[in-house]
Formats: sequence, structure tokens, C-alpha cells
Amino acid sequence: MSVTPEQVRSALAKVMSPRGQPLTEAGVLSEIVIHDGKVFFSINVDAADAKAWEMVRAQAEAAVRALPGATSAMIALTAERKGGAPSPTSTPAARRGVQPASAHRHPAQGTHGSPMSRQAPIPGVAAIVAVASGKGGVGKSTTALNLALGLRDLGLRVGILDADIYGPSVPKLTGIHDKPELNDAKKMIPISRFGLSVMSIGFLVEEETPMIWRGPMVMSAITQMLRDVAWGTLDIMIVDMPPGTGDAQLTLAQQVPLQGAVIVSTPQDLALIDARRGLAMFKRVNVPVLGIVENMSYFQCPHCGTRSDIFGHGGARHEAERLGVPFLGEIPLHMDIRATSDSGKPVVESEPDGPHAAIYRGIAKAVKDGLGLAASVA
Ligand SMILES: Nc1ncnc2c1ncn2[C@@H]1O[C@H](COP(=O)(O)OP(=O)(O)OP(=O)(O)O)[C@@H](O)[C@H]1O
Ligand SMILES: [Mg+2]
Repeated sequence: MSVTPEQVRSALAKVMSPRGQPLTEAGVLSEIVIHDGKVFFSINVDAADAKAWEMVRAQAEAAVRALPGATSAMIALTAERKGGAPSPTSTPAARRGVQPASAHRHPAQGTHGSPMSRQAPIPGVAAIVAVASGKGGVGKSTTALNLALGLRDLGLRVGILDADIYGPSVPKLTGIHDKPELNDAKKMIPISRFGLSVMSIGFLVEEETPMIWRGPMVMSAITQMLRDVAWGTLDIMIVDMPPGTGDAQLTLAQQVPLQGAVIVSTPQDLALIDARRGLAMFKRVNVPVLGIVENMSYFQCPHCGTRSDIFGHGGARHEAERLGVPFLGEIPLHMDIRATSDSGKPVVESEPDGPHAAIYRGIAKAVKDGLGLAASVA
């Protein structure tokens, strides 16, 4: 028999909030969602108190996991600033001399009120960068993975998180079919492939299972993939985002402690309108856009190598100039890029000396420079 919300609530009533009242009376719990014995909910607290609540979150998770009929618990701590985002120095913690989470940002970040100030960074991970687009099918996942490999080639320790919970494609692109194992601290160990640390919701669910997610579940799943994974020490984590700029994506952009975003667009006008939407989304949550990549920029004949600008090439470069964001590079529409991705060995890995790998490495260099990262691997 699956556990019920009432049973979960009575277990949570025994967990005390930092102010000493039962968790169920602290006014911080979201709706409790239970699916096949898997329990999901979030604890919504003021950003200034987030540290104190992390222990409560862990206790709540342990209490729920201990319930008979609960097969797993995903509990997200969502920290929001109350009263319209006060400046860091006006929070009670800052007045007491406690540094806000934003003080731990990467030095390249400056202090422009990014959502990093709302949540703690992942220990050991120096920078997290989202690869996003306004619409689907423009080549985000292909770009994300080849960009990750390009960053690896520049001497960085790189992780890739497939946050596309609706259609995870990283398992296919990397040819990974294993399930992650747990370490002694019960954290999932990312799967190591091509020198990258790889994590995808696709490793945890059957590929054919249709996934129907509700808002809090999406956030819990993402939070778990960020926090309950033993990521180790990484110079950069690339996040392959789900397509679009709806609420789920906005929440994700808000919740994942991002240092920057890379927008992938195709040259067609329509995609550019969508790309503008993507830019606007990151602007709303104060995540700096590192630049735009034009994918499927021109058609390159696999036989003779001749280039044809079948889509009216160059739109993304102009748009980037107009919007004042860097243009990171253009990737041709080429059979090899598609075929290597489909076979689970992306082009930067399978043809490291070829022209496509050089393009991705160029984009990787621009991203690395944009973040001010130094190589840590010889
Ligand atoms: N430059 C390219 N040349 C040829 N094929 C490409 C290129 N980029 C991507 N593709 C192919 O286009 C298809 C869509 O790419 P991909 O899955 O990376 O897009 P996506 O934006 O992540 O899609 P979704 O929105 O569904 O997540 C894939 O079959 C991929 O192999
Ligand atoms: Mg994708």
C-alpha cells in the first residue's frame, strides 16, 4: 500500500523547524504529491534562512523515507526573498554580518542580483551554465554535449546535467544505458563518459515511460539531480534545458544556481523570435547571457563540402549584435553531426580532428573566456 499525504504530514509534524515549531505548522510546505509511493513536495523559505533549513529538509526527507509504503522522497528547499528582493545588506543575516549565498558566487559574476543570491551553489562546482532555446528541436542537446566535450578539451573538469525531464536525450547522445549507483552517503554517482560526469533523469526512468510532471515535481526532480548527486569537483556544469520559455523553464532558470546561459537558435526568423524570448527569460531572472549559437547555420554537403546558406544564414549574428550579446559561433547542418549524435558518440569525441570539433571548441573557448574560467587539468 502506498503512503498517504496524511501519513506524510503526521511524520512531518515530528520534524521541527529552525524556530522550534512543527514543520506542518511553519507555513512553508507546498502541496504533497505522491505517485507510486514516491513522495514529492517543497519547503519554501526566506533566502536569508535557507542554510538553517537545509538540515530540516534532510530530516524531513529521512522521516518520509522511513514511512512504510514510501519508496522514495524528493524534497526541495526553495528559497525566496520576501518583500520584493531587498538588497543583500538589508537582510537580517547580512545585518548580523552573515554573508549571503551570493557572496560565494564565482568572481566573474559581479553582484548584479542574480538568482544565485537565492540559493546555495553546489559545493565543488565552480560554474553552472544552461544551454537553452526558445523552441524545441533547434539542437540544444547536441550543442550542450559537444560544448561540454569542447570545454573538456580545453582542460576543464566538466559535468553535464540533462534537465530536460520531458524528453531527456543525453542517454541516447552518450550511449549510456546504466543506472547511477549510490555512494555511502546515498548520493547518486554521475556516470563517467568521455571524461565527463553525466547525469540525466533518463537514467532513472524507463525510456518509453510517458512522464507527466507537475510543477513541484519538476523542481524536486531537478533539485535532486543537483543536490543529491555526488558531482565532485567540477570547473563547469552544462545544463541541457527543456525547450521553451514557459513557467517550468522560468522556474528552472530561477532555481538552478546559474552563472550564465547559452542560447541556441537556428537562422530562421521564427526561431530568432523564440530566441529573443529565451533571452528575455534569462533577463527576467538576472542570469547573464553568455551568447547566442547559430545551429544548422548553413548546409554543408557531406560529399563535396560545398556550403549553401539555405536558411538565409547570419540572422543570429545580427540579432546578437542588435541585442548586445556575444555571438558565439555558427554550426553547419551536417550529416556527420546528426549521425555521430545518433550513434552515442558525439562529433567532438568521434572526430576530434575534424572541422566540426574545431567549431565546438571555438564556442567552448568563448564560453570559458566569458566566464573567466581557468583550466585545472593539465
Ligand atoms: N548541426 C546539426 N547538423 C545536423 N543535425 C543536427 C545538428 N544539430 C542537431 N541536429 C539533429 O537535430 C535533431 C534535434 O537536435 P537536438 O535533440 O539536439 O535538439 P534539441 O533542441 O535538444 O531538441 P528538444 O527541444 O527536443 O530537446 C537531432 O536529431 C540532432 O541529431
Ligand atoms: Mg534536447
